[in-house]
Amino acid sequence: MTDRYAVFGNPIVHSKSPRIHALFAAQTGIALEYSALLSEPEEFAQDVMMFLISEGKGCNVTVPFKQEAWELADELSDYAARAQAVNTLVFREDGSMFGANTDGIGIVRDLQQNHGLVLQGKRILLLGAGGAVRGVLQPLLETQPASLFIANRTASKATELATDFATLGEVSGGGFEAINGQFDLIINGTAASLQGDLPPLPDGCLAAGGSTYDMMYAAKPTAFVEWGKAQSALLALDGLGMLVEQAAEAFFIWRGVRPDTAPVLAQLRAELAA
Ligand code: ATR
Repeated sequence: MTDRYAVFGNPIVHSKSPRIHALFAAQTGIALEYSALLSEPEEFAQDVMMFLISEGKGCNVTVPFKQEAWELADELSDYAARAQAVNTLVFREDGSMFGANTDGIGIVRDLQQNHGLVLQGKRILLLGAGGAVRGVLQPLLETQPASLFIANRTASKATELATDFATLGEVSGGGFEAINGQFDLIINGTAASLQGDLPPLPDGCLAAGGSTYDMMYAAKPTAFVEWGKAQSALLALDGLGMLVEQAAEAFFIWRGVRPDTAPVLAQLRAELAA
């Protein structure tokens, strides 16, 4: 029987994960089935258990269930434990579940390997303080930036998050009005961009030669990608590369094989534009 995987979320119909994993499977010659499964808010844990019982080998978890998946896992990776969020579950032979979080590895790989950006010693501004930001903080801090400032509409959430991660590096937080000075990399982890909204950013906060990264993506450049271009960013990137990289890391955790992400990303980009 073909090994079965899935992604759980709500909504889930537009998920690109089945396509990405089908491309990885074809490339690596590993036969697997990967489907997108809709869960209702109260039924997530039960749905995952059902999938496990029906011979599933593992699953991805997306909005809004990453924190529930963290609660469900019997054992956690270091990143997942810190993030209090799981996007990848491994179903073990003994019926227990291992929870990992590959989102942060995804964004760091996209920035460093795919786009050649150096994060060490740089000043990073991270916008937002929700689950998306919590998921990427540890791997970002491990690149040893000179500083990382978390700015959020609700300032208290940013300062609390900074306190939670303070042992891992030079991290602080505040409201958008507390953004001060210039940054080499500005990452948008708010949901604003998808609504066509922009976080209120002071002009000139992107340093000369600096880049911007939107964790969101869409067929057309997002509002934040457009903002980066208007600020003359060296690179004004969206989150499609992060999506493919987090999937590749999940595939590696499940199968022990690391797919080549470049052709898959190129294919996805072409399909998104079509
Ligand atoms: P996710 O898991 O996608 O991060 P979340 O935990 O609900 O979702 O967090 C959403 C983030 O986007 C929060 O940082 C939120 O700011 P608040 O904490 O102040 O709510 C931010 N956000 C959502 N809409 C926004 C907008 N229009 N402008 C600025 N920030 C916004």
